[in-house]
Amino acid sequence: MQQIRKIFSATKELKRYYIAIGCFTVFSALLTLLLPAVTGKVIDLFGQGEDFDISKAVFYAAVIFLADILYNIITNVNGYIGDQMGFHVRRILGNKYYEKLMILPQQYFDNEITGKVVNRLERSVGQISDFLSAFSNNFLQFIFSTIFGLVVIGFYSLPVALFLAALYPIYIFMTTRSSGLWMDYQDKINKNNDMAFGRFNEAISQIRAVKSFNQEQRELNYYQSKLAKIISLVRPQSKHWHISDFKRRLVLNVIFFAVFCFIFIQGARGALTAGDAVALILYSNQIRIPIFTISFLVDRTQRVISNSKDYFDVIEKADEERNAQAKNLHVHDGRVEFKNVTFSYDDKTQVLSDLNFTIEPGEKIALVGESGGGKTTITNLLMGFYHPDNGQILVDKQNIADINLPSLRRAVGAVFQTASLFSGTITENISYSKSSYKKKDIVAAAKAANAHQFINKFKKDYDTFIGERGLKLSGGQQQRIAIARAIFKNAPILVLDEATSSLDSKSEILVQAALDKLMENRTTIIIAHRLSTIANVDKILVIDGGRIAEQGSPKQLAKSGGIYSQLLKMQKDGADIEQLKKYDMVG
Ligand SMILES: Nc1ncnc2c1ncn2[C@@H]1O[C@H](COP(=O)(O)OP(=O)(O)OP(=O)(O)O)[C@@H](O)[C@H]1O
Ligand SMILES: [Mg+2]
Repeated sequence: MQQIRKIFSATKELKRYYIAIGCFTVFSALLTLLLPAVTGKVIDLFGQGEDFDISKAVFYAAVIFLADILYNIITNVNGYIGDQMGFHVRRILGNKYYEKLMILPQQYFDNEITGKVVNRLERSVGQISDFLSAFSNNFLQFIFSTIFGLVVIGFYSLPVALFLAALYPIYIFMTTRSSGLWMDYQDKINKNNDMAFGRFNEAISQIRAVKSFNQEQRELNYYQSKLAKIISLVRPQSKHWHISDFKRRLVLNVIFFAVFCFIFIQGARGALTAGDAVALILYSNQIRIPIFTISFLVDRTQRVISNSKDYFDVIEKADEERNAQAKNLHVHDGRVEFKNVTFSYDDKTQVLSDLNFTIEPGEKIALVGESGGGKTTITNLLMGFYHPDNGQILVDKQNIADINLPSLRRAVGAVFQTASLFSGTITENISYSKSSYKKKDIVAAAKAANAHQFINKFKKDYDTFIGERGLKLSGGQQQRIAIARAIFKNAPILVLDEATSSLDSKSEILVQAALDKLMENRTTIIIAHRLSTIANVDKILVIDGGRIAEQGSPKQLAKSGGIYSQLLKMQKDGADIEQLKKYDMVG
């Protein structure tokens, strides 16, 4: 029930649709009451022989005809409103979900498969909109037809009305009793469904890897095995449902047996006129239909409860913004300090341990060290994707824990380890940080990133569509667009994570020159495996196992005899491959 309340409160702006549909439904329920009463009247006319008034008979037929037309109009108008409502439900719930996903912490995405997240939305929204239209169409109709029907039947015969009324509590009791098991099955079905579609999505988005390892069959098998599992659950679930439904209907059949016996006997005895008996039979029959819709409604309700659970779980998750009173960040100089920062992704393995360093305004520092040592993690924390378990990160003396995340992220321009581009044009990608821009700024950024030349070679130059995640571009081209995007953003702090790793030496020298210019007067963190890239930085931090193993200027470190000087020697001499591997460095 709580779940149903959530659905209505999430879609409360559609109240007027519910009310309109409800009103029309009441109206159409009233109209359906007309037919049995009129039929009864006409049957009683039959007995009048010579006095039979033809005009009266035509009048009754005309009443039925008009009621039919009105019913026709109302149900179509109602259907039209229902369609609109269905669409708005999709819009509202889809928006809420997307909005929520946008502000969920990175950790949520680390633990989810994209396909699952998408599949869940489709499933929940589809079921919720089905439920709401079933609710406003059938449920209201059910309530009104039942109430009106019972009242009218009561006028004809109180015992019949009481008999029929007893049916509802019995029916509802039996239905709710059987729903627990049904929902357990449905939860399992949903889990398997999510796994199947999650993997489906992953395989399709990395189809090259699947093909190159000849694993098409393995992916298909996985999908098929999950669907087979679903079928093995659907079978007992459906069996359970239909057996319960059979039992419920059996009770209904017995009660109707008693009711009809009563009406027939009363009719035979003359306690009811033929017309009244017919009207009673028709009313009782009319009431049967809404009783059957209880099964349908319960089915819908069960479905929506279990299928929207995951949706509301997501909606109710905590945002990544942890501090409601967070202030805007004001960057004056761009000093970045890490103070005793300790961090773990999973609360088990410590990735950063008691990290301390300061980047002075405008200073360029390089993070080098073993793969998996924690370099990217440091930049993840600086951008507020994750929060330190202990310690503080300060930007111009402001603790970023007290800063609202959009303002923090406005201050940091980043080139990630993977280019992370979007389908769309080159212009759209470079200008991603701003909704309005001048073409000349885009071109300037592209020139600075040494991308202008290759862009110009495309037939549609800056309007070229680059495909999903930029897949129509080469790795080096993607990287240069990503650099242009960061240059265009023009933020006071810059993070370059392996920004030039996909470039050949010639392009790298050119892009490096552009980056050097970009880095002027900006606080910059560079992560690089190629030591030549970081020869001109102010300071190098050698990260080893989440700690700073050594730090100093390239010159100081070159002489210190530590890890960096060893690496430098190895990269220069093209020496010991085994040693290089250890540090995941190449010359
Ligand atoms: N999202 C994540 N969830 C859990 N563990 C993670 C996550 N990202 C990284 N790690 C772990 O944290 C450690 C540090 O990773 P990080 O990406 O910071 O390394 P890195 O120094 O940037 O390595 P590389 O040079 O290969 O890019 C690794 O052991 C990695 O397995
Ligand atoms: Mg990294």
